[in-house]
Amino acid sequence: MNIEPLNRYKPLYVFDEEVFENVVSDLVSDGVSIQKGGMPSFVTQALIECQGALSSNHYSHAGIGRADKFQHASKIRGDEICWITGESEQGALWLAWCEALKTYINKTLFMGLFSFESHFACYSPGKYYKRHVDAFRGQGNRVLSLVTYLNESWQPQDGGELILYANDNDINGISVLPEKGTFVVFLSEKFPHEVLPSTRERHSVAGWFRVNGSVNDNIDPPK
Ligand code: OGA
Ligand code: MN
Repeated sequence: MNIEPLNRYKPLYVFDEEVFENVVSDLVSDGVSIQKGGMPSFVTQALIECQGALSSNHYSHAGIGRADKFQHASKIRGDEICWITGESEQGALWLAWCEALKTYINKTLFMGLFSFESHFACYSPGKYYKRHVDAFRGQGNRVLSLVTYLNESWQPQDGGELILYANDNDINGISVLPEKGTFVVFLSEKFPHEVLPSTRERHSVAGWFRVNGSVNDNIDPPK
């Protein structure tokens, strides 16, 4: 008879680490990793199901800045967002994949990633997000950005590219089509980026890994 110890840890999901290895080696050499078709399809599918279950009242206009500095700024960004809580099985699967990536990165790069937050973003035709960085040096504690795409058969003529700039002086950038299965990971403070307007409704999920900003036993709030 095979008796398993009661406290034996059984992960709910097991993910292929090969894509995590590729992300880590790109982060080491470039600080950014573009993985075309790299998101496991069952994770993308879970996100698509989750997103499909949302109605317009789950979304709100995205703002810029945090807390008291928060303001709607439709000239800067025109997307509608909905934070992912992980209450549904599909949302939990997404968060588990992000957690597995976080654990892998911490194990290999000692980045000390602590928490993760992510939201669905919907860009209606013509909407965009102007050039920005996700974190400013010395402020906040977002260190690694992750964006993934949910759009079936996206064509170059549909627009909506993510343009990632190598630094503040770069005006050319690298263009990423927001195709289903593609994801991008980059150092939040280092890479300015923008979302160009599209002719189709554009769905993405944007997330941020943060380091722990707790001081004097005041636990850093996750948001
Ligand atoms: C963001 C962002 C990029 C995208 O939400 O900060 O840059 O391609 N999103 O949706
Ligand atoms: Mn951004």
